Amino acid sequence: MGVIEEIKFSGREHAGVDPAFRQDVLDGLAQTQKAIPARWFYDLAGSELFEQITTLDEYYPTRTEIGLLERHGADVGAVIGTGRAVVEFGSGSSLKTPLLLRAIDPAAYVPLDISGEFLRQSSEALAVKFPQFPVLPVEADFTRPVHLPADVRDMPMLGFFPGSTIGNMVPRVAIDLLRSMRATLGNGAFLLIGFDRVKDVDRLVAAYDDARGVTAAFNLNLLHRINRELDGDIAVSAFRHVARWNPDWSRIEMHLEAVEDVAFHVCGQGFRMAAGETIHTENSHKYTPNQARLLLQAAGWGPSASWTDDGDDFLLVLAEATELRTAP
Ligand code: TRP
Repeated sequence: MGVIEEIKFSGREHAGVDPAFRQDVLDGLAQTQKAIPARWFYDLAGSELFEQITTLDEYYPTRTEIGLLERHGADVGAVIGTGRAVVEFGSGSSLKTPLLLRAIDPAAYVPLDISGEFLRQSSEALAVKFPQFPVLPVEADFTRPVHLPADVRDMPMLGFFPGSTIGNMVPRVAIDLLRSMRATLGNGAFLLIGFDRVKDVDRLVAAYDDARGVTAAFNLNLLHRINRELDGDIAVSAFRHVARWNPDWSRIEMHLEAVEDVAFHVCGQGFRMAAGETIHTENSHKYTPNQARLLLQAAGWGPSASWTDDGDDFLLVLAEATELRTAP
């Protein structure tokens, strides 16, 4: 058995313990500023809570981006032409993906996702909806260049990365990812990508700290998950959800703040937190149009068109792979 297969099949050491989750949590809790990677939010309960977040009054990004796709899908098509393979970075959203695919008349749809289960489900639903072109899911870690299926390799490409997911990465990592996308898609490719814009801080904070407490429940669910899956004894009621604006990084940060001194165990290891100390769980960077352009350019993408809503809340950018050369 090769190395790849070994990694794939050793996903669970003993029943219920994912060694990568265990490692990330133990390492993250040992840091001075405690931090746990945001990918661990999305167990079943977390994924359901996230779906709810996207429908909240305060959470404007999802509905604003959908509005932009409805209004400007045809404009995207006019720039890129028909017959492209659409490569989506992520399993695809049941609302946004069909809007794009209907607007542009593609030759194939290739969703890339690291989680095979979700990928297969959403792909089957899309294949039923769009019998006129092949749906070719690829289970892959798209933070590295991905080998696309042979059927689409010679087609012109359109990458799709909605949801302002790029904002969940610090700029260094965002640029690495955009460069990998450039390598995956090749010369002549376009990329359609969503950025959440810098705006009034109160509105930004409200979007990540809604009145009904859904985002709080989403954040706190991580502690429940640790208790359940990593043999933890964290008093979840001793923590509160905090969303704060970090102006230096132009981002909303989500933290889990200890409201009193706490001690707990995870996988047999003891940890202490003083009242006011936090576990950093998520970043959501906000961009001005100029910052978005610079980020793309730094990764080999030249913006060709962009669309924003009447409230200047969200930015949809269509970028084209620039030639990779250093001389002017
Ligand atoms: N990328 C989106 C955003 O930052 C969605 C998202 C990711 C999100 N993680 C989140 C929304 C945590 C709320 C809370 O807004």
